[in-house]
Amino acid sequence: MPDTQIQAETRQTIGTTATTFDQARSEQFMGRMVEFMNGAAVSMMAAIGHKTRLFDTMAALPAASSQQVADAARLDERYVREWLAVMVTAGVVEYDAAACTYRLPAEHVPFLTDASGTNLAVTAQLLPVATRAMDRVVECFHKGGGTHYHEYPCFHACMAEESAQSVVAHLFTAILPLVPGVLERLGQGIAVMDAGCGQGRALLAMAERFPKSRFVGLDLCEDALDAGWRMARERNLTNVFFEARDLSDFAEPEAFDLITTFDAVHDQKNPAGLLRGIARSLKPGGTYLMQDIGGSSFLERNLENPFAPLLYAMSTLHCMPVSLGQGGAGLGTMWGVELAENMLREAGFRDITCHRLEHDPVNAYFVSRA
Ligand SMILES: C[S@@+](CC[C@H](N)C(=O)[O-])C[C@H]1O[C@@H](n2cnc3c(N)ncnc32)[C@H](O)[C@@H]1O
Repeated sequence: MPDTQIQAETRQTIGTTATTFDQARSEQFMGRMVEFMNGAAVSMMAAIGHKTRLFDTMAALPAASSQQVADAARLDERYVREWLAVMVTAGVVEYDAAACTYRLPAEHVPFLTDASGTNLAVTAQLLPVATRAMDRVVECFHKGGGTHYHEYPCFHACMAEESAQSVVAHLFTAILPLVPGVLERLGQGIAVMDAGCGQGRALLAMAERFPKSRFVGLDLCEDALDAGWRMARERNLTNVFFEARDLSDFAEPEAFDLITTFDAVHDQKNPAGLLRGIARSLKPGGTYLMQDIGGSSFLERNLENPFAPLLYAMSTLHCMPVSLGQGGAGLGTMWGVELAENMLREAGFRDITCHRLEHDPVNAYFVSRA
C-alpha cells in the first residue's frame, strides 16, 4: 500500500518512537479492520435474512433468480437482490453469473435455518438489537449511568428465540440431566422456579412435559412475562405462574426443590442478592442450576475464546448498562466462571460443580446445593 499522508503524519506525531513504527503491522491491521467491518455487516444482514425467512426460503429452492427468491419469500425483489449481493460477496450464497442464479450451499444450511437448532442467524440478531440503544450507551461513556430494557425493542423476543434453540432444545437431553435424578422427580411433582425467566421458554417446556410439577417464573420486565402468560394460555398450561419482581433482594423461604437461571445472573441489578435469595428459597437438599456465560474473569484468559469480542461487545451495549441503569453492579457478560464460583460460595451454596456442554460453547452450567 502506498504511504498515505495519514501514516506519514502519524509517524511525525509519535516523534521519537517513529523508528519503531512497523509499516507491515500497520497495513496488516488495516486489513483486519476491513474484515471486522465486513463481518459486522454480514452478521447484520444475516439477522435480516432470518427475520425475512430468506435463508429458510433459499434452503428449499434450487438455484434461483433474485425474482424467484423474492417471490418465494414474498418480498420485494430489489431489496432481495441487494441482500443477495452481500451474501454472494461474503461467500454465504453461490452465484452463477451466466444464469444469474443464486444458491445457498447445503453445507451452510444448518447454520442459517431453523430446522437444525444451530441457527447462528438467530444469534446474529442480538447485536443489532443491542445497538438499538447505541446513542444512549455513548452518552453513558461520557456521563456514566446505564440503560433500561425498554430501550432495546424486541430484546426479550430475540432472547426467547435464542433460548428456544440453545436451552429448550437441549433441556431434557443435556441440561437437566446435569442434576442427578431431577427428571424423575419432575415427573413425580416438585416445585420449580426460574429466576430472570424472560419470556419463560424453558419454564413453559418443563411445565408442558411435567404436569405434576409446579413452575414459577420471576422477572423484572412485565412485557416479557406477558408473552410467557400468552404462551401458557395457548398451551392450556395451568401449572405455570409468572410474576414481575425485582429479584435484587428476595426470598421465598424454602419454597422450591429446583431453581434455574438461564443467562440471567450477570445482567441483574444485584447478582449477589439474587444468588442469596435463590439459596434461601431452596428447600433443604434442593438444587440450583445456573447457566451463564462461561468466559474467564481474567481478560488475558479470554484471548483464545473465539466469542470474546462479541460477548464483550454485547456486554458494553446491553448486559452491563441494563444492570448499571438499575443502579446495579454492572458485572458484565464476561464476569467469568472464577467470580461466579466465588459468588455462589459466598451466597451459601456448596457442592458446586461447573459443567460444559457440547452443544453450547459459550455458556457454563453450574450445579450447586443450598
Ligand atoms: C439475558 S435475559 C435472559 C432471559 C431468559 N432467562 C432467557 O434465557 O431467555 C436476563 C433477564 O434478567 C431479567 N432481569 C434483569 N434485571 C433483573 C432484576 N433486577 N430482577 C429480575 N429480573 C431481572 C431481565 O428482564 C431479562 O429477562
